[in-house]
Amino acid sequence: MSTASSPVRYLLHDGELIDYADARLHVLSTSMKYGVGVFEGFRAYWSEEEGELYAFRVQDHMRRLLDSMRVVEIEGPTDIDELTEQLLGLVRANDLRSNLHMRAQVFVDSADGKPDDTGPSTVYMAAIPMGNYFGATGLDVQISSWARLSDRAMPPRVKSIANYQNGRLALLEARRNGYGAALLLTENGHVAEGAGYNVFMVRQGRLCTPPSTESILEGITRDSVIQLAQKELGLEIDIRPIDRTELYSADEIFVCGSAAEVNHVKSVDRTPIGDGSQPGEITAQLQGLYQQAVRGQLDSFRDWVIPVYGTAR
Ligand SMILES: Cc1ncc(COP(=O)(O)O)c(C=O)c1O
Repeated sequence: MSTASSPVRYLLHDGELIDYADARLHVLSTSMKYGVGVFEGFRAYWSEEEGELYAFRVQDHMRRLLDSMRVVEIEGPTDIDELTEQLLGLVRANDLRSNLHMRAQVFVDSADGKPDDTGPSTVYMAAIPMGNYFGATGLDVQISSWARLSDRAMPPRVKSIANYQNGRLALLEARRNGYGAALLLTENGHVAEGAGYNVFMVRQGRLCTPPSTESILEGITRDSVIQLAQKELGLEIDIRPIDRTELYSADEIFVCGSAAEVNHVKSVDRTPIGDGSQPGEITAQLQGLYQQAVRGQLDSFRDWVIPVYGTAR
């Protein structure tokens, strides 16, 4: 791979800066042979007015990374603050001053790996410029014929690379059928989540989202939305199982995730949601609040962001 096409100069490998082109994982490692690995995806937002970059909820993502490692038994780093500093150092080394998507990935890189090897692990981090993931035009969503994987088989609570086969199948099916995104149901037929996002609906005036026991990744954006809705909008949230047909009769639906941000759903299985085009009132409010929160513009949620270059405040 040539560095000429690299989006950034450096990646981080076990805490050390390396050239983008020098990232390596052996084809016979446990990660490559058996899909063993966990990761995090986070965002940072550039504020033009302040000339500052804000990294969003990095420690919470690092905590989830360590939780994932614990569940699937991968040895490796244990210090959230050290991992956080490493990631921020990488951003500074690349002198990135735009909206970013960042990743921390932990692989098991044992030679001629066995499926139950737990180490040695290797940690890679990346920070790459990224704008809107979906664009801001809203999503036409298909309910997938694939079921969401379950805690009894492949725990969705773990952000494991292997889990993404499930979402990939749903997304490929949705694209083949002319949709932009997919939502998956649990084996019991309840609404779980999408390929890379959690879901909320507004129905009969109530904001609702599935509980963390309904085969979902416990999204950090989901938690941010819940807190923003409660504290900034004074809403109560119904965290409860959701049936498929409730989506068809919802007033508003949105998906959310670090990459997806807060993105409204225009239709489900071709059934229009709201006016079938624009975000509903609560969705639009939450979209606005989220965009403020990630840039450190909400005083009550200022501790969610870290100013990367230390020029703000
Ligand atoms: C399957 C899945 N669900 C939900 C989310 C949203 O999680 P978060 O808001 O922590 O990015 C993601 C995004 O990483 C995901 O991959």
